[in-house]
Amino acid sequence: MAELGIPYGQDADKIAQELQDAILEGYSENFKKEFLRPSNIGPLERADSYVRITGPCGDTVEMWLAVERGKISDIGFMTDGCGATITCASYVTRTAKGKPLEAAYGITAEDVIAYFEGLPEEHKHCAKLAAMTLAAAIDKYRSETGK
Ligand code: FES
Repeated sequence: MAELGIPYGQDADKIAQELQDAILEGYSENFKKEFLRPSNIGPLERADSYVRITGPCGDTVEMWLAVERGKISDIGFMTDGCGATITCASYVTRTAKGKPLEAAYGITAEDVIAYFEGLPEEHKHCAKLAAMTLAAAIDKYRSETGK
């Protein structure tokens, strides 16, 4: 470990905490909470809609929706994107879950950015990708079911 610049004897938890603080510096409390405990990660066993959307940065978000009586009864996502993408998709899916399709369709990147009290310029597109993927999943459900 000494050759990696990590001194012997230093508490691993303290190092991890310092690393985490450095990564999250400048982000809001809402962002930090969502980043540390993201929701709805993983595919659904039974989905009524599935989409895979790649954003301008080349990162991809997959999303699964289950719909019951016009409401999103369950939702899951996976991504190969950055931490901000995971965090934004977590918020988007958490907000959409339980909502009627129409209301969930109205969740925008601006809503995500507002909830996180802003995002760095280079991560605003992550919010857009998360919201866009939800909208695409709803569009697909509607076009396939006519509902
Ligand atoms: Fe590409 Fe976040 S979605 S950097």
